[in-house]
Amino acid sequence: MWPDVRCPEDGLPLARAQDGTTCERGHHWSAQHGIPRMISRDVHYADAFGLQWRVYRRTQLDSHTGTTISLDRARRCLGDACWTMLHSARRTDVLEVGCGAGRFTEVLLATGAFVTSVDLSSAVEANQDNFPQDGHHRVLQADVLRLPFGPAQYDVVFCLGVIQHTPRPEATIEKLYAQVKPGGWLVIDHYTYNLSHFTKTAPLFRMILRRLPAADGLRWTERLVTIFFPLHRAVRRHRFAQALLSRVSPLSTFYHVFRLDDDLQRQWSLLDTHDALTDWYKHFRTQAQIRRALEGLGAAEIWCAYGGNGVEARCRRPPT
Ligand SMILES: C[S@@+](CC[C@H](N)C(=O)[O-])C[C@H]1O[C@@H](n2cnc3c(N)ncnc32)[C@H](O)[C@@H]1O
Repeated sequence: MWPDVRCPEDGLPLARAQDGTTCERGHHWSAQHGIPRMISRDVHYADAFGLQWRVYRRTQLDSHTGTTISLDRARRCLGDACWTMLHSARRTDVLEVGCGAGRFTEVLLATGAFVTSVDLSSAVEANQDNFPQDGHHRVLQADVLRLPFGPAQYDVVFCLGVIQHTPRPEATIEKLYAQVKPGGWLVIDHYTYNLSHFTKTAPLFRMILRRLPAADGLRWTERLVTIFFPLHRAVRRHRFAQALLSRVSPLSTFYHVFRLDDDLQRQWSLLDTHDALTDWYKHFRTQAQIRRALEGLGAAEIWCAYGGNGVEARCRRPPT
């Protein structure tokens, strides 16, 4: 019943083999901890993400924070028609690409949809630990640029917080759209240009931290949070002082964005500071650029707006 899995190298069907699967041309894909690993072994740019999501596995789950922060973001990006489709009585297959530890997997599974969660990094292990594979959920390690599926098999392709971290965002959007069934939806977002990005110290710290081995990047982020977080906490009610501090401090903090207690604020700061200082690719796009990319693919019902982490967008593949 699941959309079938193919060889990511040549798109051929796969047969069961010892400890994994093989295509007729001999490409072998192992499985570890019950997760098919369908990636080439020389792609490492997402290693820091893998470690990040394994260490901060529950930090952003709504079930951990007791909030609806992830639900609200997912709901806004999905829009009414797609949200209704997810709750309909008929089977709805969702492909979630760049699933991380699963803050949105949790939201998608709660709708009753059948969710295929994919990530390039070892984050797939965190995702599986949070949401074990079962009749409604399966997890694969794969690259969005070489997805191990035949074309146009998913009712909804969902990809939030990911495209800006891939080598070529427009190529990524094209690959995601290729997975959408006729009449189905693509839901994405993307960082946008932001003046404050260029007036803070974070890009300088990132130049160094993203080049370190993943474990060292994590250790240095923890040190930075130990130094700067108490200062952010001290000025949390003073917007001007907060703004001044954020020119000097490389931390991502959320006192002015979300109502979370101090412990959660610190956890979110640890996670998001690491995310922002160790990502290998960080692209920016305007709303018009994202819209043009979707128009170029022949998408219909395009919605595109500034919000959330930059630009949020969805579109539909025209029904045949
Ligand atoms: C900032 S995290 C977002 C995770 C999750 N979507 C969320 O919002 O919590 C970006 C994720 O994209 C994954 N990623 C980066 N490049 C990818 C690629 N080429 N294919 C699949 N996943 C990728 C990373 O491993 C990482 O888990």
